[in-house]
Amino acid sequence: MTSAATRTAERREVDPDRLKQFSFQVWTYKKGEMVSALLHIGDQLGLFAALAAAQPATSHDLAAATELSERLVREWLYGVAAGGLVEHHDGAFTMSPEAEALLVDEEGSLHFAMGAFRGGLGDDALELILESFRTGIGMTYEQQGPRAAAGLARTTGPFSRQNLTSVILSGLDSVTAKLERGAKVLDVGCGAGVSACLIAQEWPNAEVVGLDPSGTAVRQAQERAQSHGLANATFVEAAAAEVPATGDVDLALAFDCLHDMPRPDVALRAIRAALDGDGTLLIKDIRSKGDFELDRRNPMLAMFYGFSVTSCLQSALSEPDGMGLGTLGLHPQVAREMTTAAGFTRFAEHDFNDAANLYYEVRP
Ligand SMILES: C[S@@+](CC[C@H](N)C(=O)[O-])C[C@H]1O[C@@H](n2cnc3c(N)ncnc32)[C@H](O)[C@@H]1O
Repeated sequence: MTSAATRTAERREVDPDRLKQFSFQVWTYKKGEMVSALLHIGDQLGLFAALAAAQPATSHDLAAATELSERLVREWLYGVAAGGLVEHHDGAFTMSPEAEALLVDEEGSLHFAMGAFRGGLGDDALELILESFRTGIGMTYEQQGPRAAAGLARTTGPFSRQNLTSVILSGLDSVTAKLERGAKVLDVGCGAGVSACLIAQEWPNAEVVGLDPSGTAVRQAQERAQSHGLANATFVEAAAAEVPATGDVDLALAFDCLHDMPRPDVALRAIRAALDGDGTLLIKDIRSKGDFELDRRNPMLAMFYGFSVTSCLQSALSEPDGMGLGTLGLHPQVAREMTTAAGFTRFAEHDFNDAANLYYEVRP
């Protein structure tokens, strides 16, 4: 702050009630940071899963079940109970079925949330983010490291497992029939390969290629395909602009990634050239109206801007000519204009009951 600005701030009167309220608001965010750390610790050490299995459990029961330090487990239990995440009665702790759905049931619950809790940014990422404000050049997903790639896959996995093949792809025009017969599928910005593997598993005749410029994410995708025994899913380290112009792809996916790309316009042109004349591009991107005041109706909006400043916009500015769309930047109007400019002529918007995303079915 300049000295002139400091003097101006000194002259302004502080309302004691508003100061108290604002102070509460600021410290509530610090509480969120600390409870996020407790969530991450509980997830990584299997404490939530062990409590779900052993409840009602004392700290001694839980420490014995997990072979962890009773004193630390006890402090953690009081913390998550104070945060309203578990319940405490007469020295024992329990979890509601709703808590189990969000905190434990990764394979079966649509609402599993632990992938998003990764224990903070880490010193290296934080330094890169601070530096990006000075240089205007952001951090890539690869620079975020393996924990971020794996966490992203755990975040998008639950919704995709329940909906991708059964609801979303079935809701598109003439896509599943091609997949049954043996379609060529391209998953651009595939990350750790959750969607590509789900498609390869559901439609064994399909040939699925995932690509992503993050070698870390690609290796995780390859391991996923291998662990599921999927010979029809392969993964390549490449950016979307490098997609070969084969003109024979039946289905291309761009899931939660166009807004992360420095040049989504170039990526869309490359995808258009790779697609068959009767093919489909399915874009999944974050819900946004393209108007800050309208978007403010979303009580979680600040979190999305947080994702943007620390991840999506970082990636979208990771090259000097980056367009910098960011988390909320690929709203329906931008999606329509950009796909039209890339040579697509048909555009349909879908909701698919996804609270965070919209889907654009785009065709040549
Ligand atoms: C939020 S993740 C989404 C991953 C995956 N599609 C999913 O739904 O879980 C965004 C991905 O976009 C990738 N990405 C960034 N720039 C890209 C580019 N130019 N071309 C292709 N992918 C890119 C990142 O490496 C990252 O894996």
